[in-house]
Amino acid sequence: MLLELKGIKKKFKNNEVLKGINLAIDKGEVVAIIGPSGSGKTTLLRNINFLETADSGTMVFRNQEINLAHPSTDQVLSTRRHMAIVFQNYNLFKNKTALENISEGLVFGQNMDKSAAKQLAEKALNQVGLLDKKAFYPSQLSGGQQQRIGIARATVLNPDIILFDEPTSALDPELVSTVLRDMNRLAKNGQTMIVVTHQMSFARNIADTVIFFADGEIVEQGSANEIFDHPKNERTRQFLSAIAEDY
Ligand SMILES: Nc1ncnc2c1ncn2[C@@H]1O[C@H](COP(=O)(O)OP(=O)(O)O)[C@@H](O)[C@H]1O
Ligand SMILES: [Mg+2]
Repeated sequence: MLLELKGIKKKFKNNEVLKGINLAIDKGEVVAIIGPSGSGKTTLLRNINFLETADSGTMVFRNQEINLAHPSTDQVLSTRRHMAIVFQNYNLFKNKTALENISEGLVFGQNMDKSAAKQLAEKALNQVGLLDKKAFYPSQLSGGQQQRIGIARATVLNPDIILFDEPTSALDPELVSTVLRDMNRLAKNGQTMIVVTHQMSFARNIADTVIFFADGEIVEQGSANEIFDHPKNERTRQFLSAIAEDY
């Protein structure tokens, strides 16, 4: 088991957003999370990456048990060293080039020397086919290119797991496929990942395990075939029947 989540709870004021999340992920497993907007999917990812602090719950990551409500600084840093996140809106620094967006985290976050960081960043850019854009600023790049830089930034340290939060939802439709291709390549190479997505055919295709998430809980989880073709829960069925896309 690479990652285990136990009883994660989170409230914002009186709004109970995570109601006790339990989930176990093996090395190499791809987990897709689908579910209605506002159900707590982003909050879950932010809690396990410490961008938000859970009210209670534990996470076992790389055999280390962490109290999510009271993580130590060491635990936060070591988790972030081995767990990357790709955001819906890319979150690139606007005043830094494509290359710098990837290398600066290595220099300042990991104390790597500049030339080693530059080399690694160039390799990561090359993998997403954007080495020729290394000196470009985000405003000079399409949304799809910016997101692929987000993916390069996430993969540069060979993380044990990558969390993707609706990585294609801010993209124009014609730019989606390049980003999906990058993610498919990572999955094929054995990268463990959690992918929150609203693209059902992609989820069906890429996921070993599909989770239907609603109202702060995992409602149902199973293989793509189980969730998409034989959903057991009424809420899952309702959600899927309201989706226009073929999947
Ligand atoms: N920082 C925050 N402060 C207050 N409420 C928040 C915050 N972040 C998320 N929420 C609320 O938590 C709920 C779940 O949000 P979110 O995790 O973004 O859902 P999803 O990603 O499934 O759309 C929503 O009701 C949202 O308004
Ligand atoms: Mg979200």
